[in-house]
This record gives sequence, C-alpha cells and structure tokens, in this order.
Amino acid sequence: MMLLSLLPVLLLSTRAALAEGVALECDRCPPGTYLRARCTPTQKSDCVPCPAGSFTELWNYIGKCLRCSVCGQNQRVKTACNASSDCQCECQQGYYYTKKNDMCLPHSKCPPGQEVLTLGTADEDTVCQVCPNGSFSDIFSPQKNCTEHKCCEAAGLQLLLKGSTWHDGVCASCRDHSVKDGADYLKEIIPAFFTHQKINIRRLRRIVHKLPSENGKRQGKTSGLTRSDFHKQINAWVSSATATQIRQLPAILTKTGADGAGERLQNKLQRIDSRLSDLCAFGNEVDAVVRSG
Ligand SMILES: *[C@@H]1O[C@H](CO)[C@@H](O)[C@H](O)[C@H]1NC(C)=O
Ligand SMILES: *[C@@H]1O[C@H](CO)[C@@H](O)[C@H](O)[C@H]1NC(C)=O
Ligand SMILES: *[C@@H]1O[C@H](CO)[C@@H](O)[C@H](O)[C@H]1NC(C)=O
Repeated sequence: MMLLSLLPVLLLSTRAALAEGVALECDRCPPGTYLRARCTPTQKSDCVPCPAGSFTELWNYIGKCLRCSVCGQNQRVKTACNASSDCQCECQQGYYYTKKNDMCLPHSKCPPGQEVLTLGTADEDTVCQVCPNGSFSDIFSPQKNCTEHKCCEAAGLQLLLKGSTWHDGVCASCRDHSVKDGADYLKEIIPAFFTHQKINIRRLRRIVHKLPSENGKRQGKTSGLTRSDFHKQINAWVSSATATQIRQLPAILTKTGADGAGERLQNKLQRIDSRLSDLCAFGNEVDAVVRSG
C-alpha cells in the first residue's frame, strides 16, 4: 500500500532530473567549436575547435562541425571559411549574378553595330546601344565603343562606300583604279561582313569548302573547328584571293543557302562598282588630277 502510492512520485522526479541534466545544465559550445563530450554531473561540456575546412556559426550542441561550402561555377571566394563562419562567394571578374538562374553568367558582348553603354558589374549585365551616327563596330566586345568612320577627304581620297554601323567607310582614289578592281575594295569589309552576319557554323563549313583557290586545292579537315576558326579561314582566303575569286563569293553564299547574305554582299559590290565608275569615269579622272595638282 505504501509502495504503490510512492511510485508515481519517484517516476516524476526522475524524469525532471533527466530533462534538467540534458537541456538545462549542459553549456552550449560557442561558435567555432563543437561538442566533443556532453557534460556530466562533475564536468562541463567538452567543446573543441572545428578542424580546418569546417565551421559552426552558432552556439551549439552538435557533435561535428559543418563542412565549409565550395564556391560554384564562375565564382570566387570573397571571404574565406574559418572556424566560425562559412565562406562567402562572389562572381568572378567578367561575370554577373542572376537571381533568376542563381548563377554567375558572363557579361554579354555588344555585337557588331553596337557599343557598350554601361559596363557589366558583379550584379548587372553589360548594356549595349547602337553605334551613334558616323561610327561603327565590327567586333563582339564587352568593353569597346564604336569607332568613328574614317574621313576619306582628309586623306586626299574619295568616299567609295559609306560606312555603316558594322563597317568602316571605304575610300578610293582614281589613281589606284588602274590596279584595283571593285572587288579589291570589297575585301576591306568582308571580315566585318562575316562577323556581322549570323551564319550558322554548318553553313560556314560549307562556305569554307566551296571557296575557290588558285591551285584547286581544297580546304583540309574542318571537323571540330569553331566559328572563329572558320572566320579566320575565310579571312585568310580573302586576303590572298584574286578579284575574280572575290566576285564569286556572293554566289557561293547563295549556293550554301545563305541567300540573304549573298544578296547583301552582291549589293555592296554593285555599289562599289558603280561609284568607282562614276568617280573615275573618263574626264572626272583628269579633273581630279587637275584639282589635286
Ligand atoms: C572569420 O570570418 C569572419 C567573416 O569573414 C570574420 O568576421 C571573423 O573575424 C573571422 N574569425 C576569425 C577567428 O578569423
Ligand atoms: C543619323 O544620320 C541620318 C542621315 O545621315 C539621319 O537621317 C538621322 O536622323 C541621324 N540620326 C541621329 C540620331 O542623329
Ligand atoms: C564609351 O561611350 C560612353 C558613352 O557612349 C562613354 O561614357 C565612355 O566613356 C566611352 N568609353 C570609352 C572607353 O571610350
């Protein structure tokens, strides 16, 4: 009888003692440390520093520190991890953070015909604008501004083809006319033309394969080449091509299905030819010589 009535009291007091022992009496471990051993009635919590490469940021009871984070792709360490704080990351130079993708993406390059209005930052992409009147850009760049069209008159020459946003003006003198064909002037803008035109890589490959060469030699292997490799091959061909070969280029573009590009190149060539014949027509030529002399 006596025993029965005592039992609930005994159980209750044991539970209270247990709860107190774990939750209330053991000290937490400070940031930068973890709990190696719980406290006992005679010893305080045994807290020891986090090993290198791990950390705890809060007062804790955990038996193991957390592993330091690793910075993601295109990120670099802003503040290193130490025992009491995880590392912080930021985008690498040339990249900006996008919330939407939760990623660092490379700053956009302004395409030919455009320039940088504001440079990209760690949080903002590059902002581009169309080249102002009278200037051009023939490259993709995250930094460069447009360049003013050259002034033919200042160099004692005449304007053969007006500059556009993506190519410079082309100048000529009737005195070169005897040695230079319209196609030779077109050469000056062909590299910019290919950079500006959005021709896909498969088509670029077909164009490169169709480029005529003096000795009938075909281009070598072109598998695995990048867009810029193809542009380099085309530019190398242009610099050594004859006027007759250059004149075949618009038709080659059309044959590979780049009809629009073929037409635009043919147009430029026609404008050069017609202006060249106006400029250097018999009579004008004498005039020009007299005026400059
Ligand atoms: C750990 O890094 C944080 C954030 O960079 C810094 O505030 C703190 O002083 C560092 N602690 C030690 C012990 O170096
Ligand atoms: C640019 O020049 C063209 C003709 O040369 C003119 O019609 C146009 O208004 C100019 N635009 C600006 C923004 O000055
Ligand atoms: C580029 O142009 C912008 C305005 O259009 C100007 O603020 C900036 O200084 C220019 N940058 C360079 C490198 O010329």
